[in-house]
Amino acid sequence: MDTVIVSDISIATDPGSLSQGHPLCMAADSLREGGLVAFPTETVYGLGANALDPEAVKSIFRVKGRPSDNPLIVHVPETSHIRRLVKEIPGYAEAMIEDLMPGPVTLVFTKSEMIPYEVTSGLETVAVRVPSHPIARLFLTLSGVPVAAPSANISGSPSPTNVSHVINDLSGKIPYIIDGGPSDVGLESTVIDVTGDHPVILRPGGVSEEDIIKYHPKVEYSSETTDTPKSPGMKYRHYAPAAKVISVGPFDTFDDMVSVIADRISDPDNGEIKIGVYSNDKVIEALREQRIVFEPISYGNTTDVKAAAYGLFAAFRRADEKGLQILIVEAFREEGIGKAYMNRLNKAASSVESRSDKNIVRRLVFVCTGNTCRSPMAEYLIRAETPEACVPGFVVSSAGIGTMNGMRASESALNVMNELFGIDMSAHRSSVFTDNIAESNDLILAMTAWHRDVLRKTYPSAGHKIHTLYGFVRGEDRDINDPYGQGEDSYRETALEIKSLTDELLVRSNVTE
Ligand code: TXA
Ligand code: MG
Repeated sequence: MDTVIVSDISIATDPGSLSQGHPLCMAADSLREGGLVAFPTETVYGLGANALDPEAVKSIFRVKGRPSDNPLIVHVPETSHIRRLVKEIPGYAEAMIEDLMPGPVTLVFTKSEMIPYEVTSGLETVAVRVPSHPIARLFLTLSGVPVAAPSANISGSPSPTNVSHVINDLSGKIPYIIDGGPSDVGLESTVIDVTGDHPVILRPGGVSEEDIIKYHPKVEYSSETTDTPKSPGMKYRHYAPAAKVISVGPFDTFDDMVSVIADRISDPDNGEIKIGVYSNDKVIEALREQRIVFEPISYGNTTDVKAAAYGLFAAFRRADEKGLQILIVEAFREEGIGKAYMNRLNKAASSVESRSDKNIVRRLVFVCTGNTCRSPMAEYLIRAETPEACVPGFVVSSAGIGTMNGMRASESALNVMNELFGIDMSAHRSSVFTDNIAESNDLILAMTAWHRDVLRKTYPSAGHKIHTLYGFVRGEDRDINDPYGQGEDSYRETALEIKSLTDELLVRSNVTE
C-alpha cells in the first residue's frame, strides 16, 4: 500500500475553508470509510480508525500487532461530543472535562450503546480524549466521527513523538500519515477512571496527580501503576528498546550524577559493550572531559524533567538505531510530569511481568535432583539476563530435591555453559530444597513433572507456585531430561533447550502498548 504523507498544514486553517481535494480532507474521508490514518496529538501520534466501524477498529489491532484485550481511546474534537459516547458523567468529572480538556488527559466512563465492544475490548467502559493539538482537532472535525486511536507505533516500540517515528513503523501499512511536527509533551495522556465515586489514575501522564486533586480530595493510583513490574515471568513488555535500560538517580548534586554514570560506564563487566547515556548537555560534557567513551543522547541544555520527558521515547529509538546494548538514563523525582517519566522509564528498565495472573515474581527458584546441572543452568541463564542494576529486588536461585549442600556444578555443565554462552558457573554450590525455599519464593520451576509432583506433595501450601518449566512457559506437558552420565553433547543439548525456555520466560512476544 502506498502511504500518503500529509504535511505543511497551516494551523490557522478553518475546516470550512478546506477544499474537498485537500489532502487532509482526503485523509478524513478515508478514515470515515474504514481506512487507518496516523495523526499528531500533543502527547504522541495516534493511529486512528472510525470508532463506529468495528471492522476498521479491528484492523488497528492487526496493523499494530496489538493483543485485542487492550482497549482503545476514543478521540473527539470538542468536549461537547463526549456526552453521547458515555452513559453518565459524575459531578467531579464535569469539572475535570471543563478545565483539563482539551489536553493530555483521557477519562474512562461507562460507555453508551454507540460505542462498539471492538473499541473497548468487551468492557462496559470507554476511554475518551479531546486532544489540544490544532491539527488533531481539525482532522477530528473533518472526520465527523469519533476516532478510536492507540499510539501510532507497532507494538513493542516506544510511542512515536515525531512523524519520522510513525513513518518508520507504519509506512506502507496505512493509507495516510499526517505530519504535525514533534509532539509537545512526548509521553502519553494521563488515563483516569471516573466511573467510581473518586478518580483513579490508571496511567500517569501529562496531567499530574497535583492537577487532579483539585477536583476530588481522594485521588488514587490503580495498583498496576504503583507496582512497577520488576520480575521475570513476562506477560507484557512495554516501550522497551533492544538496549538494556538502566535508570540512575535522582541525585542531590551534579557531581554525584556524573560520578555514578562514569562508574557505570567504566564497569569492567561491560567490556566492549556499546553504552549510551540519556542526560543533559552539562552531564555529557563532564563525562567527555573524563575521556569516557559512550554515545551521548541529550535532552538539551536544561535540567527540566519536561525536556527529559519530551525526548525519552525518541532516545529509546535512537538507542536502537545506534545498536546500543546499554542505555543509562537519568532518573527524576516522581513529582508532576516526573511521575509519568519515571513510570515509562521503569517499565523500559524492567519490563517483564508475571504471566500467571498479576502476581509479581520477585524470587524465582529452579529445581532438579542434584542441583549440579539442569537447575543451575537455568539459574545462571536468567541471572545473566537480569543484572541487579536492571531488575532491583529480583532474586533467582536453584536447589535440588535429592542432593547435599555445597557441591560444585558438574564438569560437563560448567564446560558447555562456558562454551555456549560464556557463562561461568564455577561459583555455584548445590543447595537442598527446604521449607524455607518453598515458602520464600514466588515461583518454583521444576525440570520434570516428577519433581513438580514431589514438591507439590511435600509442600501443599506452596502448590500453586510450583510448575514445570515447560508447563509454565509453553503450557506443554514435557520434561527436561537429565544428561547425567552421558556425553558432553547431551549436556550441550540440555543447555540449549533450557536457554530457549528461559529466553521465553523473560521476554514473551506478547506485547501491549
Ligand atoms: O496520549 C495518548 O493517550 C495516546 C494518543 C494517541 O491519544 N494514545 C495512547 O493510546 O497512548 P494507547 O492505546 O497506546 O493507550 C491507551 C491506554 C491503555 O493503557 C489502555 O489500557 C487504556 O488506555 N484504556 C483504554 N480504554 C480503557 C478502558 N475502557 N478502561 C481502562 N483503560 C482503558
Ligand atoms: Mg501505546
